[in-house]
Amino acid sequence: MAITFTKLGGHMAIAAEGLDLSTPPSAEAAAQLRQALWENQILCIRGQAIAPGAYLATISLFGEPQVRPEIPHVEGFPAVTTLSSEDRDLKGDGKRLVAGANWHSDDTFMARPSALTALYGLIVPEVGGDTEYANMYAAYEALPQARRQYLDTLKVVHAMKPAREGLGRTRSIAPEILAQCPPSTHPLVRTHPQTGRKALYVSRNRMDHIVGLEREEGHRLIDELVEHAIQPQFTYRHRWRQGDIVIWDNRCLMHKANGDYPEGARRFMQRIIVAGEVPV
Ligand code: OGA
Ligand code: MN
Repeated sequence: MAITFTKLGGHMAIAAEGLDLSTPPSAEAAAQLRQALWENQILCIRGQAIAPGAYLATISLFGEPQVRPEIPHVEGFPAVTTLSSEDRDLKGDGKRLVAGANWHSDDTFMARPSALTALYGLIVPEVGGDTEYANMYAAYEALPQARRQYLDTLKVVHAMKPAREGLGRTRSIAPEILAQCPPSTHPLVRTHPQTGRKALYVSRNRMDHIVGLEREEGHRLIDELVEHAIQPQFTYRHRWRQGDIVIWDNRCLMHKANGDYPEGARRFMQRIIVAGEVPV
């Protein structure tokens, strides 16, 4: 059966329909899906009802799934973690935990941050719970040339432990996990290995400081870049349908969860991250 592709946002995100991923797609279909992702940064495969093994096989078409031992996972599938409206901050105040409610890119504190993240919406709220995205290629390209040239020279130290106060809740991190994840230094502007395009690489609550700048000055610059990048012309908001598998590219996007669905409404996602490279 042929895949039908439909653009979702004005300048990024595309939906694929007509696939049943309970059996593996043809090599040709897999190549079309990869191409759609590189060209549109976000790929939504609609209408799936598949088991964790088939989900993992699907995401493996895009790269190598990675295990993050500190996140709860589906029994028997350590690479398929879960994200639920029932998650509570057990190490903190016990309140509902909405992971990723600040604009961010996933796992930038790692030496090789995940290239892609996939979320599979098994239960989605009737209202709220959208995921928002900002296109960091477009945000970079819209800056004046002199500004781009300056930003191209900067390096940023990213740390797992949130380095700044007042940026909202995150999952509490056990000291032994923190000890395994030393800070990493990445360029503020990175070049995408598949497309060759440059993108701002910003994840506000993981950025400890900009190398060579005063902390405050670096934080102001990061805030300014985030404010610039989340303007409507660079963003897309995904309204979830049950059965959506959304795969996005962390190397050229920021994203953000919304915890705006009512208390008691359920949201349940299975999440897979795909190994990335050292950002350059
Ligand atoms: C994530 C994330 C957003 C959401 O899984 O990395 O940020 O809407 N999720 O759940
Ligand atoms: Mn995230």
